[in-house]
Amino acid sequence: MTEPLFSEDEEFDRPRLAAHGPVRVRVPAKINLHLRVGPARADGFHELTTVYHAIGLYDELTARRGDTLTLTMEGEGTGELSLGEDNLILRAVRALAAETGHDAHARLHLKKQIPIAAGLAGGSADAAAALVACDHLWGTGMSRDDLAAIAATLGSDIPFLVLGGTALGTGRGELVSPVLTGGHAWHWVLAVADEGLSTPVVYRTFDELGGHSSAGPPDDLLAALRQRDPEVLAGRLANDLQAPALHLRPELHAVLDAGLDAGALAGLVSGSGPTCVFLAEDARHAAMLAAELESRKCCRAVKTAVGPVPGARVL
Ligand code: C5P
Repeated sequence: MTEPLFSEDEEFDRPRLAAHGPVRVRVPAKINLHLRVGPARADGFHELTTVYHAIGLYDELTARRGDTLTLTMEGEGTGELSLGEDNLILRAVRALAAETGHDAHARLHLKKQIPIAAGLAGGSADAAAALVACDHLWGTGMSRDDLAAIAATLGSDIPFLVLGGTALGTGRGELVSPVLTGGHAWHWVLAVADEGLSTPVVYRTFDELGGHSSAGPPDDLLAALRQRDPEVLAGRLANDLQAPALHLRPELHAVLDAGLDAGALAGLVSGSGPTCVFLAEDARHAAMLAAELESRKCCRAVKTAVGPVPGARVL
């Protein structure tokens, strides 16, 4: 069911020369097919078991040589997202520089399609892209395991976005092992909300509501992935953060109802929300669902996406 981390991609581990031209990296969003949250630990994080799934909704980060470190952006979240030193991209670049002894110099530009604070790990995705891009730009020749280790110091979801595909996540989410799913493509429809939700607030609300997990171990879900039957998978999707997200944003009930009404096989909140994600039978069904959801005007935007897809990769 699981295989050694990143072994499928030997090319990644070869030492490289620094790149002279721009390095473009594409990185996907993630959803959680299963998210079981345990009690808060002494460090404030929650021990969890999750099944991550990378979907074909992408940000793109371009890195060029420079004498300082700069970041510009366009697209989703422009004007809202801080481009200062607290930005996860800049923190990732500085962490890679510290690890490798390279100067933290690059001119970075982010083209953002993944909505921010949406439960899709967009910020984590950008940090993963920054690690892969600067490793390439500087020719520091890190293995993907090395990058995942740096990623784990920056955020719980970031190692998964370096990896991609479908993977089991444990610890606070930073320990990832790939799950073999036999290459089946799953079709998803995303309902993106007007306003984001804060992940720490959603976890805190989970604690305040009793902090009890409603999900069992992910074995049934992993078996459903291997069966490749969307009807079976539909009954096995689970997310403990759905209850606190619905508590904080009750109007999401109507979004979930709208998707199910329109014929989705299943609907659930993605990660800490507020994006709602719906499972479709196939590409045609996903397009039909998306059109129906759009016509109901119950959310800011509707997107279709296929998963699993690879993690942060140089184009
Ligand atoms: O690791 P990351 O920076 O993505 O986490 C954001 C916040 O989400 C943390 O500060 C914490 O409040 C919460 N969190 C948690 N348990 C986890 C992951 C995240 O409580 N396993």
